[in-house]
Amino acid sequence: MVDHNHWLDRWQEDRIGFHEASVNRHLQNWFPRLAPAPGSGVFLPLCGKAVDIHWIARQGFEVVGIELSSIAIEAFFAENSLDFERVETDRFAEYKSANITLLQGDFFDLKHDDLSHCQLVYDGAALIALERHDRPRYYDHMLSILPASCDMLLISLEYNQTEMQGPPFSVPSEEILQRYQNAFSIHTLETSNIIDERPRWRKVGLSALQESVFSLTR
Ligand SMILES: C[S@@+](CC[C@H](N)C(=O)[O-])C[C@H]1O[C@@H](n2cnc3c(N)ncnc32)[C@H](O)[C@@H]1O
Repeated sequence: MVDHNHWLDRWQEDRIGFHEASVNRHLQNWFPRLAPAPGSGVFLPLCGKAVDIHWIARQGFEVVGIELSSIAIEAFFAENSLDFERVETDRFAEYKSANITLLQGDFFDLKHDDLSHCQLVYDGAALIALERHDRPRYYDHMLSILPASCDMLLISLEYNQTEMQGPPFSVPSEEILQRYQNAFSIHTLETSNIIDERPRWRKVGLSALQESVFSLTR
């Protein structure tokens, strides 16, 4: 079962194969076309210590991330040589450095007011970190906390879930459409089979891995 302890243990034991050393290429490609006005907020759910956080912040946006693990958050600031202040609030430990705020705590404890300045969500590897039975709650909560004008850049994976266990989990595109189509206009920006880029997963038996990039606009 992929619960909080699963993730906290992975950070504790440094089993973070999901962490990428370089900025996500789809983010680099599509963010400039979807980016809100400079200075507005960009929300990164389940953000880990992604280098994408700093990349977005360097372009002048106010970045808000939420992450369960303090190890991840403190590693992010250390690895990017950023000083931070840490404040305990009622729901989170809030780490802040200039235009980056990382909240240590549970995504499901976020409230609408926490994201009131956000105009874009970058869901890079958040939705696909959740098992099928946890995702309905994720979609519902996401929709309940986002400002009405907030768009989204979403990267998802689809594969034969009987060939590999996950995480990351396979998320059918139809599921994304079904859950988000009342709130957003959804476009597939790119889709391709990237199994050749994941030899480790091919080795465990995965035959195909479809990666899709979606824009969700209001
Ligand atoms: C697959 S990793 C992706 C991390 C990051 N987005 C990246 O691309 O490197 C999923 C992350 O979500 C965090 N996480 C899982 N459940 C969470 C929750 N309910 N609230 C906040 N963070 C969570 C985990 O600790 C983990 O760092």
